Amino acid sequence: MYMKEEKTIKTMFDRIVLRYDLLNHLLSFGQDIIWRKKMAEEAVNNFNSRFKVQGSKIVLDLATGTADSAIAILKKRVKVVGVDISYEMLKAGNKKIKNKFENCLFYPIVASGYQLPFKNNSFDAVTCAFGIRNMHETKLALAEIYRILKNGGRIVILEFSLPENIFRKPYLFYLKKIIPAIASLFSVRSAYEYLGSSIERFYKPRDFVRLLEDSGFKNPKAIPLSYGCVYIYIGEKF
Ligand SMILES: C[S@@+](CC[C@H](N)C(=O)[O-])C[C@H]1O[C@@H](n2cnc3c(N)ncnc32)[C@H](O)[C@@H]1O
Repeated sequence: MYMKEEKTIKTMFDRIVLRYDLLNHLLSFGQDIIWRKKMAEEAVNNFNSRFKVQGSKIVLDLATGTADSAIAILKKRVKVVGVDISYEMLKAGNKKIKNKFENCLFYPIVASGYQLPFKNNSFDAVTCAFGIRNMHETKLALAEIYRILKNGGRIVILEFSLPENIFRKPYLFYLKKIIPAIASLFSVRSAYEYLGSSIERFYKPRDFVRLLEDSGFKNPKAIPLSYGCVYIYIGEKF
């Protein structure tokens, strides 16, 4: 069942790859760069003392896409494995990384978040920027992440949310009316209609924190960014 839905999502990302980065920066007013930087800091800098020897640490960036999230982590001088189901997104990301860094340890792999091709206890941290919302079998994806994290490792997820404050109404208007209109100028309207509806359908922050807890993660927490339009979720494996 999830394989069919995964294929639809993969096809959608394969199609929008050429406009993805530009629209990301445009539609978020450049905030996406700051959000990913914060995610990378939470995954690497704010980690426990084991992370001080940075060169030897390895991070899985799940749903790495065109690699802007992987780039934010690579800047912290750690090894990054980038996994995505879309070959086209990954290819564009890999090219961008090769142009940007002379020597970096980035390993792109086409794979599904539901079936990660790694042994148990392999990674010091797992990040996922704007990807978990696309994995509708969220419990399955979280169980996979838990399995491949080392003991003492940390999950750091960046995801959109609907603010529960005065920004909610204008944000919904922006999401449901303005973004699809702008996206249609780039011939990718349906993908950005999906963006709005998937954000509406996604877990409320408190429910996602509970899900992290139910999936075995310790000390789960949610940190709001940009007035609650985006959240960073963190959990640890002990
Ligand atoms: C919105 S993009 C995020 C890309 C990147 N992390 C960023 O920060 O820009 C979501 C990515 O998730 C990938 N994706 C969706 N479902 C997936 C799954 N089940 N397994 C792996 N990747 C998936 C898509 O192919 C797409 O590249």
